[in-house]
Amino acid sequence: GEITTLPDIDPLLLRILPNPRPGTPPPSSKLVFGKTFTDHMLTVRWTSAGGWEAPVIGPYAPLSLEPSAVVLHYANALFEGLKAYRSNTGRITLFRPDMNMSRMNRTAERIALPTFSGPALIELISELVRLDASWIPQEPGHSLYVRPTLIGTQNALGVGPSTSALLFVICSPVGPYYKGGFKPIALLATTKHVRAAPGGIGSYKLAANYAPGIIPQLEAAMEGYAQNLWLWGPEHFLTEVGTMNLFVVLRREDGATELVTPPLNDIILPGVTRDSVLSLARSHSSTPLPGLPENFIVSERAITMPELVSASKAGRLLEVFGAGTAAIVCPVDRIGYLGEDIIVPTGERGMGPVSEVMYREIVGRQTGVIPSDWAWVV
Ligand code: COI
Repeated sequence: GEITTLPDIDPLLLRILPNPRPGTPPPSSKLVFGKTFTDHMLTVRWTSAGGWEAPVIGPYAPLSLEPSAVVLHYANALFEGLKAYRSNTGRITLFRPDMNMSRMNRTAERIALPTFSGPALIELISELVRLDASWIPQEPGHSLYVRPTLIGTQNALGVGPSTSALLFVICSPVGPYYKGGFKPIALLATTKHVRAAPGGIGSYKLAANYAPGIIPQLEAAMEGYAQNLWLWGPEHFLTEVGTMNLFVVLRREDGATELVTPPLNDIILPGVTRDSVLSLARSHSSTPLPGLPENFIVSERAITMPELVSASKAGRLLEVFGAGTAAIVCPVDRIGYLGEDIIVPTGERGMGPVSEVMYREIVGRQTGVIPSDWAWVV
């Protein structure tokens, strides 16, 4: 028979329905992460019979779903997070959107939701961000957080691939994660809950990975810790912190400074900020980054709590930090583990030397202060 290819997302078919009642962005100092949304949203529908339909940018508005929609029952849902920046010359950029597109497609495949052309969605997101450009805060440390989401919308209670889907993108102006400087956080290395298991879904940006972390986080908060340090296995391998990837800085026995992060596998989310930290750290050997030691080693390797404890006891634990799009880097000053606290050094500015360099180098590339092909002009 004839091979028919169903239509992919096509930016040329975009319809724009301007919001007749545009809002006013709140003062940037009042922004709370993810609570304010811009005037417009992008929606693209898909059916298994007809493929991707014409994209629409219209007013930010409630969705209409039947209560039988599969997403409400079986969590056929995934999301991405990326940031848009606007310089004082009006240049708007997205930070490494290609990374988000490939992860979004990989996650979609994992739960039988439709894949799509990454470049096409980047073009549509660019259109949306240009339309809502007045919502991109320009103060240092501020940005527009872009949230692409994909859900299964078939009205059916049988568990199977959804025959229809909705991709939507909403945008939220956000301020710096830490107002008034960096505040290191305390982590509870939990031996009660796990975030992800081998063979499971931890390496995918599935909605279902996030709600189950809420109660463990509240339990940690009851004990005075901000987030969980997620462990795995009887060895107590370190995996992630809260909703972020994890980095540890050690002084090795031979005197070298080692930046360690767990290797990508089933239980580690392939974070864009994680990748950015690793790339920058690895570039140091050829193009030195001011502030990093000369004898600097980058390791994607397994690391256990017993190793962390012994490094701490030997005075060789230099830094621990989380890395994610929302916070960029998040320094850690204390880790509760088996009833005791491990104290982690932080610099006088609330950040260790390696995380401070990473923050400076990443933000510089996001805002255009440091030219980089990670910043995509829209
Ligand atoms: C992050 O950027 O660290 C995230 O995982 C996004 C969070 C709001 C779920």
